[in-house]
Order: sequence, then C-alpha cells, then structure tokens
Amino acid sequence: MNSVIKKAVIPVAGLGTRVLPASKAIPKEMMPVVDKPVIQYVIEEAVAAGISEIVLVTRSGKSAIEDHFDCHYELEAELERKGKTDILNSVRNILPSQVSITAVRQHQALGLGHAVLCAAPIIGDEDFAVLLPDMLIACAPGQEADLSAMTEAYRQSGIGQIMVEPVPEEKVDRYGIVDCSGVKIAPGESAAIARMVEKPNVNEAPSNLSINGRYILPGRIMQLLTQTRPGAGGEIQLTDAMATFLDEGELEAFHMRGKTYDCGNKAGYLQANLAYGLNHPETAAALKDFIRDLDL
Ligand code: G1P
Repeated sequence: MNSVIKKAVIPVAGLGTRVLPASKAIPKEMMPVVDKPVIQYVIEEAVAAGISEIVLVTRSGKSAIEDHFDCHYELEAELERKGKTDILNSVRNILPSQVSITAVRQHQALGLGHAVLCAAPIIGDEDFAVLLPDMLIACAPGQEADLSAMTEAYRQSGIGQIMVEPVPEEKVDRYGIVDCSGVKIAPGESAAIARMVEKPNVNEAPSNLSINGRYILPGRIMQLLTQTRPGAGGEIQLTDAMATFLDEGELEAFHMRGKTYDCGNKAGYLQANLAYGLNHPETAAALKDFIRDLDL
C-alpha cells in the first residue's frame, strides 16, 4: 500500500461538445477562467496536493495543452528584453521543476474508464489520483483545498477516496452517484461506500451524493478496467470498475467543503469566470462595479 499519492491521471481527450462552437479548434481545457486556462487550475490543484507526475490522456488536436506547460523561448526572451517581469513570471515556471507532465493517447473515445486505462503503463500498480478537467474545485473560504484534505484522508486510512457533493435530485442522472448506506457525511469527512451507480434514473438513485471528478484510487482499478464492459451511454465507465472493486475492497466517499464549477457546460463556465473574477485582484473591483450597475 502506498500512502503517498504521486501520480495523477487527467483525461483531456474529450470533444468538448457541450461548449461548442468555442471548443471547435481549441481544446475546451484551454478556455480561460479570468487569466488562466481551466487545465492550469486543475494541475495546480494536483500539485498543491503533493502530486508530482501528471499523466494527460490526450488525442490529436489537443497539443496546445502540452505546449501551455512547456517553455516558450521567444515569448520569454521578448518579455525579458522589455523588462516585463510580472508577465514573464506568469508564463515561466508555471509548475515547480520537480513536476513532470507526460502524455499518452486515447485513440478511440470509449469512455472515462477507457481513458484512465490508457495511463496504465505509466501508473503501474501504484495507487493514483484522477482529476476530471471540466471541474474546477474552489476552496471554501479559509479552508484547505478539498483534494489536499482528501489526500490526507487517504494517507491516514490507506482507503481510496472519491470526492462527492450533494446535487438536486433531478440532476442525479448526470453523475456517478454513491450509496453510503444512508450515513450522513459531514463536509470534510469520509464514509464507506456500499454501492455506486453511473447516471441512475432519479427513481433508482441510491442518494443525491454525486461524484464530482476527483478520485484517489487503488492501483487494482487498472486491472478491473481491463475487464469492464461498456455501461451507461455505451461507454466503459470508471464508476463500474470502482463498483466492482467494492466486492473485494473498500472505498470511501469524501464530502467536499468547497464549491464545484462544471466548466464543461456554458453556464458553469460563466459562473466560474464570475466567481474567480470576483476573487482576482486585477478584476474584482471592476467586476463588482459592473454587477452593481446591472439592471437585473
Ligand atoms: C464523469 C463520471 C461521473 C462523474 C462526472 C463528474 O461523467 O463518469 O461519474 O459524476 O464525470 O463530472 P461525465 O461528465 O464524463 O459524463
């Protein structure tokens, strides 16, 4: 058992159909929230939780993501020559030097479970994290980031952790839903998962606790994924492999404290820009004035 999670899989091969036409020629993960692409927030969140090896599961047409975390010599030389130190620092050293980013390809869009399995040669049999890049997880004010807290829960228990949050009942069919045998989990706490189901009908959902795209998983999941047949939506589902794992081991649901913004849809993306813009020193004041003057 590893008690420290070093590797994270970030699937970025999706087509971004919910944010078309914006995502036609640029990866949806590169769409900005205030002044950084969504993927940068997600990778910074992983790094803050102690992860040092990021595995992007990508496809053709998405190389802008890798370029973003690479050096841009001409740009850096030009900013240096002009003495624009602040901007230079924002494009240089986006990640600490000990963090590596590797990319593997998903050649067919067969589902999230299949995307995660594409990273198996790099993950090996280690326990690992998965972060879905559509989801931005903002910290609750004054709190530690949820992924960091969840990583600590894993470190203490050795049990895989799945981040969850309550959603309105009518939305349960959009998510993986966990069943914690009716146990009420306080925010920041974990509880054993009895069962989980991917995108259940409202009347079949065991609870309203949805999986929000942050996982710390046992290495064994990779083997189970090789045997996982297509499930909801005809796709190979990560949720189904985790559900199979429950027959032989434990997983816990970690109830997040912060707030999720689903940047994979238009309204969630706009909300993220508004919320992050209201917290950004360069934009907060102007945005507040603008909102105050809106005739809503
Ligand atoms: C995926 C997962 C689902 C999870 C969701 C969070 O679904 O399969 O369990 O609740 O991400 O965003 P997708 O959004 O890819 O359909």
